[in-house]
Amino acid sequence: MNLEFAGRRVLIVGGSYGIGKAAAQIFVAEGADVVIASRSAQNLEEAATEIATATSGKPPAHLVCDVTQPDAGEVLADEVARRWGGALDVLVTAVGGSIRSAFADLSDEDWINNYTFNVLSTVRAIRALEPALAKGSAPAIVTLGAAASKMPYQHQIASNVHKAGLLGLNKTLAAEFAASGIRVNLVAPGRTLTPLWTNRADKMSADEGRPREEILAEFSKDIPLGRFGQPEEIAAMVVWLASPKASYVTGQAINVDGGIARGLL
Ligand SMILES: NC(=O)c1ccc[n+]([C@@H]2O[C@H](COP(=O)([O-])OP(=O)(O)OC[C@H]3O[C@@H](n4cnc5c(N)ncnc54)[C@H](OP(=O)(O)O)[C@@H]3O)[C@@H](O)[C@H]2O)c1
Repeated sequence: MNLEFAGRRVLIVGGSYGIGKAAAQIFVAEGADVVIASRSAQNLEEAATEIATATSGKPPAHLVCDVTQPDAGEVLADEVARRWGGALDVLVTAVGGSIRSAFADLSDEDWINNYTFNVLSTVRAIRALEPALAKGSAPAIVTLGAAASKMPYQHQIASNVHKAGLLGLNKTLAAEFAASGIRVNLVAPGRTLTPLWTNRADKMSADEGRPREEILAEFSKDIPLGRFGQPEEIAAMVVWLASPKASYVTGQAINVDGGIARGLL
């Protein structure tokens, strides 16, 4: 299937590893002009080299930007103005995560930080880049949410709340941006083997004195497909939703989770 990405302008926030990097690799392989953004120049350079090697293609350009900072929108919009004359076709926001904690142990600061990490970071990127997307061709936004927004996990209450907030953002913006031709969708991953999870499993392994593999096997038990997802499996849905092949899809939140979220909707 030709996903029609040749020459299209794609910006991925959170593109230096994990699901964002896996999506960047597919976009590059499909011939898109890609910029990856994250906090670390070193991580970005390593990702760009890896992607170029894997695809035998042009390495993605990169931009250092911390989306938890108030000036993040300006940094992203300036890059799009400088590189592409202020027009953008695809925005992917792939920054976020949880805090494993009981409700009683979370402070106001924990709640605010997790809100900034998951919700405000996404709001900032979209708000700053909406004018550029409105000038783009078949423009699309894809946000990474979480299966936990539809089936809350124990001991992850802050991100359960904030990822559910992204569902509201997604649905509302899809209606608001339709007049500018911008489609807005969300991909909700289940447990996926990115550094987010491998680091968590390593910490649990050190704390509990058991092998990482045993921990991952335990967390696979309630996944109907019986295993963690690979970043490429989530990225494939991100890329498809961003492509003109999904031209009649907007306001949707699609789980790619091995079946873990058991709700009907
Ligand atoms: N993996 C899972 O099991 C899972 C499950 C449900 C939902 N999700 C969601 O899917 C999305 C991607 O997850 P992932 O597993 O790929 O995460 P990850 O492995 O932690 O990767 C996150 C990416 O975001 C960048 N990043 C982190 N903080 C940033 C900041 N403040 N500003 C800019 N960039 C930042 C990281 O790069 P630098 O360190 O270089 O900044 C990296 O490129 C997240 O929204 C996550 O909540 C993941």
